[in-house]
Amino acid sequence: MNHHKPILTIFTIGLLSLGTVGLAFGDDDEEREEDERESSGWMDSRTTLAQVVNATYEQECGSCHMAYQPGLLPPQAWAQIMEPAALANHYGDDASLTDELRTEISTFLGANTVNLAQQGNPYAQNPANSTAGQGLPRITETPDFKRKHDEIPARLIQDNPEVGSLSQCNACHRQAAEGDYNERQINIPGHGPWND
Ligand code: HEC
Ligand code: HEC
Repeated sequence: MNHHKPILTIFTIGLLSLGTVGLAFGDDDEEREEDERESSGWMDSRTTLAQVVNATYEQECGSCHMAYQPGLLPPQAWAQIMEPAALANHYGDDASLTDELRTEISTFLGANTVNLAQQGNPYAQNPANSTAGQGLPRITETPDFKRKHDEIPARLIQDNPEVGSLSQCNACHRQAAEGDYNERQINIPGHGPWND
């Protein structure tokens, strides 16, 4: 793994200057330790991700889809997504930013996820969750995510005008913006709660 791109320097600076930007996991230590022991990592229903607290990020990255919590992808993945060339061809869209905005957002995303990895987030550290080499990384293509969503029929996703794709987390997870993906908060448009 060789990710020594300049952007990582920005992340490091961000980490140093933002040092204390919150823990991505809520609640108490005991709960976190329990999560670490389980392979499902952040996908566990007891895990609540930290809310997005950066207004610039929310504004620039939350208009076409929700502003995904930094903890949803490892830092290398955010670094890849935030490359200028990648932003210009962002999953088929143009999400280009000025250098100033890009640096601010990169710092925010990197600082949080590096912090998260250091806290022992099993998701960020699991190599099986790496999507490198398959185009831009996706939350929705990681093994943990797929396992949790493989029973939902297409008619409730792609063929559902109120959802469109699994990338629209908040269409079904009504508390997604609060970092709460608990099954009890699921309400799929045209279907309702999920009882499997
Ligand atoms: C102009 C609209 C637009 C903007 C602005 C935008 N995105 Fe996206 N983004 C998209 C589209 C379209 C997709 C693909 C969604 C799909 O497949 O349904 C996407 C997908 C993603 C994904 C992958 C989601 C998945 O499927 O797992 C990530 C991560 C992401 N965007 C991050 C960002 C970040 C970070 C920013 C801000 C720098 C940003 N986006 C700004 C349109 C946008
Ligand atoms: C079409 C609706 C839909 C969309 C869109 C969707 N999910 Fe889900 N999600 C579900 C359902 C249904 C489950 C429960 C699956 C099960 O338990 O069988 C689930 C489960 C989860 C879980 C595990 C929760 C638990 O209690 O175990 C997490 C975490 C999660 N989703 C995150 C996300 C994220 C992040 C996104 C966006 C990138 C997303 N989901 C998009 C429907 C959706």
